Formats: sequence, C-alpha cells, structure tokens
Amino acid sequence: MHPVFHHIGIVGAGTMGSGIAQVFAQRGYAVSLCDLAAGQLERALNTIDKNLRRDVEKNRINPGQREQTLRNIQTHSDVNALAKSDMIIEAVSENFEVKKKVFASLDDSCALRTILASNTSSISITQLASVTQRPDRVIGMHFMNPVPVMKLVEVIRGVRTSGDTVAAAIDLVGNLDKVAVEVNDSPGFVSNRVLMPMINEAIFCVFEEVGTVDAVDSVMKLGMNHPMGPLTLADLIGLDICLDIMETLYTGFNDSKYRPCPLLKKMVAAGHLGRKSGQGFYQYSQ
Ligand code: CAA
Repeated sequence: MHPVFHHIGIVGAGTMGSGIAQVFAQRGYAVSLCDLAAGQLERALNTIDKNLRRDVEKNRINPGQREQTLRNIQTHSDVNALAKSDMIIEAVSENFEVKKKVFASLDDSCALRTILASNTSSISITQLASVTQRPDRVIGMHFMNPVPVMKLVEVIRGVRTSGDTVAAAIDLVGNLDKVAVEVNDSPGFVSNRVLMPMINEAIFCVFEEVGTVDAVDSVMKLGMNHPMGPLTLADLIGLDICLDIMETLYTGFNDSKYRPCPLLKKMVAAGHLGRKSGQGFYQYSQ
C-alpha cells in the first residue's frame, strides 16, 4: 500500500466508479463509494460481488479475500462523507457542468491535502482544477473499461498540476498493478483522441452503407487483431459516452473532422445506448 494513501473516495457508482472501487478495495485500501442514487450503489456492489465470486471460482483469490474486499467498501449518498479521504476519484457522468459542481463541493468539504482526481475521458483537467482552491492537487486518472481487466491508467497533468501530485498518482496506479502513462491536458487526451474518431468512422461506414455492423467489426477484429470490433466496443463504452467525447473533440478543436456521425446522434436520441440499455449496434438480453 502507498505509505500516505489509505482512504480512497470515489464519486459515482456507475460502471467505471464500481470498477475503480473494486480494484482499490482488492489492494487493501479503505474505499468510500458515493452516489446520490441508492439503486446505483446496490448495483455496483452486486457487480463487484459477481466479479469477486468469479475470481474465487477461478482460484485467483480465496473466499476470505473476497469477503475482505467487500468489507473494504463503504457506501454513502453524501459527498461530505468522503471528507477524510487521501484521494478522491470523480467518476460521474461525462458532462462539464455536473463535474464542475462535484469538484466545487469536494473542494469545500475536503482537507486541503486531499488530491482530487477525475476519471474523465475527455474533459479538461485544467478547467476542472480552476473551480477549486487547489489546482496543484487536481489530476486526471483515466481508467479503462472493464477496469478490473485493463492495465492502463492514463494520468493527465493539468496546467497547474504539481509534480508531487503526478508522482503520487503514478505511485498509486503502480500499487494497483496497473500501468500509468502520463499525458498532457488536451481534448480527449491521447486515448480518446485516437480511439473515438476510429469508432466514429466505423459508425460512418454503417451509416453510408459501406458495410454492415458485422462486416465493419469483422474487418477490424480479423484484419487488425483488435480484441473486439469498434461497434462492439462502442456498445461496451456506451453510445452516449461516445457522443459526449466526440462533441468534446469537435468543440475543443473546432475541426469538422471530429463531427459526430448522424447515426450515432440518432441512436443516442432513441435511447439505444449499447449494452447498458439492451440495444446498441447489437441487442443484449438484460
Ligand atoms: N469485469 C471484470 N472482468 C471482466 C469483465 C468485466 N466487465 N469483462 C471481461 N472480464 C474478464 C473475464 O472474466 C475474463 O477473465 P478470465 O479469462 O480470467 O476468466 C477476461 O476478462 C476475458 O473475458 P472474456 O473471455 O469474456 O472475453 P474477451 O477475451 O473478449 O475479453 C475484454 C474481454 C477484456 C473486454 C476484451 O474484449 C478487450 O480487451 N476488449 C477491448 C476493451 C477496450 O478497448 N477497453 C477500452 C475501452 S475505452 C475506455 O474505457 C476509455 C474511454 O474513455 C471510453
């Protein structure tokens, strides 16, 4: 465990927040997971428990470790309960106004030593830092989905993030047995600046009837050795999140090459958000 960090707060118990809670709890950190919706917290604990049971079945952990991991996670509906955390990772919806409110409120309630991190996939860390009194202790820690499986954490340095904050975040990532890659603050950082235009282009191929959904995914899986096709991946990430990220790239660079595909917009408007809604480019049983 990191010599300084024992208590990790997480705001937002969606797919990313619950995955982040799981990996910290498995490494022995005391985790406080906060969400306004009680149902969301319950779903998060169920998912974590399901993942841990699979780990027990596969002999990766023993039943005692599963129980200890679950005991390491406390749930809360009020962000003030996170006030004593050494680091807080925000994983709420990908919307600047929503994140801004969370950061301002955490800044008010937490000790000045607490590092505030965002799991944002594309929003400016520098802008989020500017709503706080501690811009040197604000950083991006961008985990990948599914969090328990993916090795990368993209660590994003805002303009005013201090070297100590970056070093602490990189250390923490190492303790999770993941790999930190440091990048500078820019719309979409590196991960989504490269990934999302590829996904958007795959959607254009379907929209313009260049190929079917299966054809596009098969080309990328069999031809480029991607573990899943871009449309399957878009369904996993969530089409609403893909659209949010494309909008951030489009407005951030003011460049038409980042315009979201009309089919992506239409599917999001229809509530076809991918796996989480049961319908995206593919259909899923709930
Ligand atoms: N939670 C926990 N474990 C999971 C999981 C989940 N949601 N999904 C899969 N796994 C585990 C499985 O249990 C399995 O473990 P074992 O083999 O040890 O039992 C392992 O992962 C492999 O799973 P599967 O055999 O079911 O399927 P797979 O071999 O196709 O792997 C995958 C699944 C790891 C998701 C793989 O398809 C993959 O790497 N896909 C690409 C994922 C990716 O690109 N993620 C980044 C998205 S971008 C992002 O997150 C950032 C953003 O800002 C949008």
